[in-house]
Order: sequence, then structure tokens, then C-alpha cells
Amino acid sequence: MCGIFGVVLKGGRVAPLIHDGLKRLEYRGYDSVGFATLHSGTLQVRKDAGKIDEVVRSLRMDEMEGSIGIGHTRWATHGAPMMVNAHPHMDCDEKLAVIHNGVIENFMELKEELLNKGHNFRSRTDTEIIAHLIEEEMRGDIGFGEAVLTSLRRLEGSYAIAVISISDPGRIYCARYESPLVLGVSDKGTFCASDVPAMLPYTNQVVFLRNGEFASLDAEGFQIRRVQDGTPVQRELTEVTWSLEMAEKQGYPHFMLKEIYEQPSSLRGSLRLQRQYLDLLTAFLDRGEKLFLVAAGTSYHACIAASYMFSRLAKITTFPAISSEFIEQYGDSAAIDTVMLAVSQSGETYDTLKAIDHARMKAATVLGITNTVGSTLTRVSRAYIIQQSGPEIGVAATKTFTSQLMVLAQLALRLARTRGKLSQDEGDDFHDHLQMVPGYVEEVLKRHGEGIKALVEKYSRERLFVFLGRGISASTALEGRLKLLELTYVPSLAYPAGESKHGPISIVEEGVPVVFLCPRGDTRKEIVGSIMEMKARGARIISVCEEGDDDIIGLSDDVIEMPMGIPEALSSIPYVVPLQLFAYYLAVQKGLDPDKPRNLAKSVTVP
Ligand code: F6R
Repeated sequence: MCGIFGVVLKGGRVAPLIHDGLKRLEYRGYDSVGFATLHSGTLQVRKDAGKIDEVVRSLRMDEMEGSIGIGHTRWATHGAPMMVNAHPHMDCDEKLAVIHNGVIENFMELKEELLNKGHNFRSRTDTEIIAHLIEEEMRGDIGFGEAVLTSLRRLEGSYAIAVISISDPGRIYCARYESPLVLGVSDKGTFCASDVPAMLPYTNQVVFLRNGEFASLDAEGFQIRRVQDGTPVQRELTEVTWSLEMAEKQGYPHFMLKEIYEQPSSLRGSLRLQRQYLDLLTAFLDRGEKLFLVAAGTSYHACIAASYMFSRLAKITTFPAISSEFIEQYGDSAAIDTVMLAVSQSGETYDTLKAIDHARMKAATVLGITNTVGSTLTRVSRAYIIQQSGPEIGVAATKTFTSQLMVLAQLALRLARTRGKLSQDEGDDFHDHLQMVPGYVEEVLKRHGEGIKALVEKYSRERLFVFLGRGISASTALEGRLKLLELTYVPSLAYPAGESKHGPISIVEEGVPVVFLCPRGDTRKEIVGSIMEMKARGARIISVCEEGDDDIIGLSDDVIEMPMGIPEALSSIPYVVPLQLFAYYLAVQKGLDPDKPRNLAKSVTVP
């Protein structure tokens, strides 16, 4: 939920690198920022609430001296976003500084213990206790590194931390438990960060620290040990193939727009999955008696769509479940015959990892789909697929949603073939359409990329939107609504169209815009009925339908025409694209930053 970055250089000042690294982590949090550096035997800390560039400029943080330092960009979990709560936090004597991402669950007890021992606290954060714990350990006359290690053993909860001290001025100590941390080495020095893009300008040689690991960094490299018993750990460097350009905006005004336009290429990436992993996941899915598709937010919408695909193609019942509800809703029934397919772009979502823990405890088989190599999800899954979307920086998920659908569609097809549920021709036909999906999306972007702005202009003052679809399009409607809601803060509803008459319709009155998702397919007759119902109440109808679908077009006030021939089971991928664009342009029109919706962070690693 926060971004952390640390550097030990062989020479030169680290402050500009910290600034640059934190900018690339801004998607993880952006309510306060702080740097700490060591120089000539002194510890310097500058921090404040506000966006990175503003704070760095006003406190002249780029000018800080020192070739070793740490920096933090925060998304508040304990304590309001204000200067005292910004990281780094220091001990009483101001000899050491710590930055942290995560939540220390036992911080109240530890704080009380430390207060009783005479420590003075300046903030309301859970993080500050780490600084005082280390200080307390050092009173026992052990070295700084050992004091960090022993302090870590007392923490309960999740953390990625980096800490520096004047008593060991050439080293950064860092560690992780549940929150991500990556190490990197280059000829200039050694790095640690919450995520790879922060260090990509300097190195693509990285190590993903694992849960319960601790590392000591100096300018020449790093050593890893286990927190629990201090045992050394050998780990090979991994070469990251993401280029820096892939992680930057490439001339688009916002990451979100760049990522929407990247979809034809990210979808092509998601079609090039390694066959043996698809086969492995298919084999596990085939063996399951109960099959749960578990995720949060946008990834959950992908799971809903997948439940239609698995049913339609493989004739298999799956239960899409919101990860934070899984334990209460299905936890007792999970057992050895259960397969949980967890879907998480980041692979670090707390709720999803908690559901997985529970499923594993019940001896269920856990499978994963994620975009993040080395994430926790990849380590707790029996088998997993990397969805190959490339890094997504915009907080709102766009290209990672369509890639998840692409992976899930391939799994559904493979399972259908394994189980003999599709004829050869049906299977081949679906396979051919899958290959065409990136082209459909390209076509949609070409047709509507600019045109959607006029629609946004027309509806820019609306105070309520309703999104409706039937069958798999109910998931498209939910995702279109989530994008609009999170980016523009305009209240909006989404329902399966047939359900709307059981209550939600009462909100519809003269002039309310209702967006209908109506690909050609089995649900068309009913969707026409739903449109009539809404029109009868004075709704203005915006339809996303196949070009030349005159019945729907004739009933609509505005139409977004989609390419012909898209099978209904794959329709969520191209049909969500105009909804992503609509939400993006409406946010821009309202003067909001689509890359940083309020109160949201890219990776939700807290309960
Ligand atoms: C919405 C969005 C979130 C995430 C959710 C799960 O645009 O991005 O709803 O989909 O927080 O995140 P992952 O997929 O990383 O588990």
C-alpha cells in the first residue's frame, strides 16, 4: 500500500535516484513522502504530507547529501496523512530511520512496552515502533544488523521495511513478510524497492525477497538471511525483461489511457502462454469436485465472466467468490476435493491471500492467475499462470482485466476439450475467435477512441448511471460501473438486466442514462425486453451492440457499434473497452486524475 525504495551507491548522491524511484512507485500510495540519507556521520530526514514532486520541491529533498538513503511514498493505514505520520520514522536519539509498507498488528502491545521503557513516540503510526524496538535491542550491546533481525522476530502482521543508521553507515537492512520487496544490483550500487519499475533505469538484475527474509545491502551487493533463525539464503538473480519504456507513459497523458491502448498488444501477450502451464492448471481443474474462482474488485469481475465461460464451454459449475467473503461464505465446505483458482493482478491482495491460506488449511488445491512474477500468489499456488499483461501503473485495472479474461477463456477451452464437451469444430471455432480478439479490440479503439469524447460531453453532467447486461455481459456491466465509479465518483448501479425489475428499476426516472451491453447471442431477446422496460420509464438508452443490429439501434438514444462476429462468450473483452474509455474521459472532463483515484491504491495489501 506504500512504496519503499532504498539505494547504496558506490559514489554520488542518492537523493535524485530516490526521487525518481518513488515517482515510479507513486501508484502504490501518494499522500505523503519522505527521504532519509546518511552523510558524514549524520542522519538527515525530510518528509511531509503531499504529492511527491511538490514535497520534494518544497523541502529541497533532491539536494540532500549522502550516497546511501531510503525513501517512502505513503498510503495511510495508521494515522492521518500528515507530516509526523510520514515515513521515515526515527528512534528517540534520531540515529536510525525506518520505512515500512504493511500493517503491524501487535503494535499497540509493543508500543505500550516501549513507552514503559521510556521511549518517546512522535507519530500515531504502527511503523514507529520498529525504530524504537531496534533502538531498544541495541541497548543490549548488539550490532545494528542483529538488532534489526531480532526486532523483526517480534513483529506480527505484514511488512516490507528498509532501515539505515549512523552506527552502520554503509548498509541498508531490509526485510519482508507478506508485503513485497525486490532487490537489485548494478555497477552503480545496490537497490531495494517495493516493485521492479522503481529500479529499472539502473538495473534489470533482481531478486524477489521471499516471506520471512532479511537482507543486508552494501554498495557491492547483498546477503540474504532468514528472519526466523538467521540462516544464510543463496538466491540467483533473475533478469527482468520489462523495458523502462514499458513502465512509462509513452507520450500518453495518463498511464490509464496508455494501458487502455496497449490492450491489443497485452492480449497478444496473453495468448502466448506456455502450454505446459495451461495443461497443468487444466489437469488440476479437471480433478476438482468443487471449483471456486476467488478474487477482489476487477479481478472478481473477471471471475464472474469466467464462470459463464466454464459453464458454456466445459459444462462445469464454478462458484465465483469475493475473496474477503470466501471464508464466511464457503470456507466450511472447502475440502481436499476443492480447487480454488485465485485471480490477482498484483498477486499480493491481502483478502485473496487470506482466502488462499484458509483453502490450503482445508487441503484444497490452490491455483493462481497473476501478472506479477515472484508475487506471493505464485508461491502459495500449486500451479500458476503469469497473465503477461506487462506492468500496469494506472490504479484502475484495464489491460490486466482483459488479459485475465483471455487466460480464463483459454483455460475454459482447454478444459472443455479435455472433458470432451466440445466437438472438434466447435473447439476450433472458439480457438480461432480467441486469436481474433486482439484485432477486435484494435478495431474498437480505432472506431471509438476519439468518438467516445462526444458521448462523454453529452452525458458529462449526469448524476447517476445504470449499467445492465445479461449472461456474461452482466460482468461487463459490473466492470463498466466500477471504472466509472472509481474514476469519476458519479453514483452508478450495475445489475444483470433481468434482476433490475426486482428493485433497482425504481431508481430510473426521466432522463437517467442506462448503458446496455448487448452482444449478439442467446440473451438478445430478453435484453430487448429490458430496454423497452427502461425506455417506458423515460431512461435514455446508450447501447453497446453489434454493428447493424437494427433492433437495438432503433431503440437507443446513443449507440457504440462493435465489430461483427464476436462470440458472446468472448464479448466481455472488446465490449468493456468503450466503457473504460468513457470512464477515463469523463474523469479527465471533471478535472480528476484518472491514474490516482481518491482513497484507492494499486495493491491492497492490508485487511
Ligand atoms: C479496480 C481495481 C481493483 C483491483 C482489486 C484486486 O480498478 O484495480 O478493484 O482489481 O483491488 O486487485 P488484484 O487483482 O491485484 O488482486
